[in-house]
Amino acid sequence: MAVDVILGLQWGDEGKGKIVDYLADKYDLVCRFQGGPNAGHTIVIGNDKYVLHTIPSGIFRSNITNIIGNGVVIDPITFQREIEKLESAKINYKNNLLIAKKAHLIIPSHRWLDAASEASKGISKIGSTLKGIGPTYMDKTGRNGLRVGDLFSSDFQEKYNLLKEKHMGILNGYPDVDFDIEAEEKKWFECIENLKVIPTIDCEYYINKAIKDGKRILAEGAQGSMLDIDFGTYPYVTSSNTITAGVCTGLGIAPQKIGEVIGIAKAYCTRVGSGPFPTELHDETGEKLRKLGHEFGATTGRPRRCGWNDIPQLKYTIMLNGVTQIVLTKLDVLDHFDQIQVCESYNINGTNTNSLPYDLNMDGITPKYTSIKAWNCSLDLINSYADLPDEAKDYIENLETMLETRISMVSTGPERHKLLPK
Ligand code: GDP
Ligand code: IMO
Ligand code: MG
Repeated sequence: MAVDVILGLQWGDEGKGKIVDYLADKYDLVCRFQGGPNAGHTIVIGNDKYVLHTIPSGIFRSNITNIIGNGVVIDPITFQREIEKLESAKINYKNNLLIAKKAHLIIPSHRWLDAASEASKGISKIGSTLKGIGPTYMDKTGRNGLRVGDLFSSDFQEKYNLLKEKHMGILNGYPDVDFDIEAEEKKWFECIENLKVIPTIDCEYYINKAIKDGKRILAEGAQGSMLDIDFGTYPYVTSSNTITAGVCTGLGIAPQKIGEVIGIAKAYCTRVGSGPFPTELHDETGEKLRKLGHEFGATTGRPRRCGWNDIPQLKYTIMLNGVTQIVLTKLDVLDHFDQIQVCESYNINGTNTNSLPYDLNMDGITPKYTSIKAWNCSLDLINSYADLPDEAKDYIENLETMLETRISMVSTGPERHKLLPK
């Protein structure tokens, strides 16, 4: 069987967690392939709300194996908190969670470096979640990192000390930031004992065998395509490949093994942290979207920047990912609008274009909007696509035409059941 993929088409927080949890039922394996505790994937089941950072969103279904792939970076402290929450909710993860030996570890001084690096940037800061993501991936590509498999080697403490010493040297060149390294290290070493209890695997062999055995596999992305290290709004990006290509390197599978690519997009657009966002609304409409959409970060609690959907941006990420279908989320957030705006093209210094410029941060980009009549009523009790108001169907079908891609499902609320197949 091929590996299907779920990933974000905007700047993250598109509702990936909800859709993975919903679709997980159809799969045998759910695998995270990149990112780390910078992610916050929210899942609402009945009256309970869970936010996962490292653990795949298939964990609530006991018959599914969940894999944290080699492309992921793991902080044992966050990981333990996640496990504790699952335990207190009586979710049994013990028999269905596996970790790739080649996944890299975030150590406390990575978080310290993240904070110091951001402090040194002043107003040009990335707006990082400060979870140590950038410094950990830098050590991975710089060939200095520590991996989960190293936890079991007899010279682990030595390897740890070497890496920490290297960090201490770099920190000398950065501004001072508050960080209690001793307390954080104490916690970290306690938490690795719990991490070591989770079975580890050679992810690439495990997944390729599963493919051969006909298992159905879903790869779960974190962040969004516009935060991709190569193709996102650099330098205001994260430090991993968030696009479909990242599935191959993050799990150890070949490109031809990729099946459906399900792109998740909100019915509008949000971004958290710094960086360009052409359709951002700085007015009361942006505030209304934030309020109705509860647009506050699942990991940091920061208010998310809000704006309208951007067709050139979405077409770009559909192209990069080879998206075969879109799931449109948070349609209900637009329940109280008369008109919805969609940016159909950019005017860049007098020239109309559908392409993203090299630097989206450049001056002179003016989004050109088209206005679509909204439904202005609640979608709360709608249980099927056919029952959606005509204006809502018009909006969805207009998006499909502009994006030249099928929208296969529409989400109308945070809860599991609020998903309408089209
Ligand atoms: P992720 O990082 O892509 O998994 O998304 P987040 O969990 O960070 O943010 C999505 C937020 O929107 C969460 O609070 C979800 O519970 C919520 N959500 C998901 N789908 C819908 C929807 O269709 N309508 C509404 N109102 N909320 C939704
Ligand atoms: P999920 O998986 C939204 C943003 C940060 C910052 C930039 C770099 O929940 O969609 P980092 O901590 O990686 O150094 O931050 O990326 N960012 C996210 N924004 N959703 C996320 O994940 C994000 N993960 C990182 O706000 O701008
Ligand atoms: Mg999130």
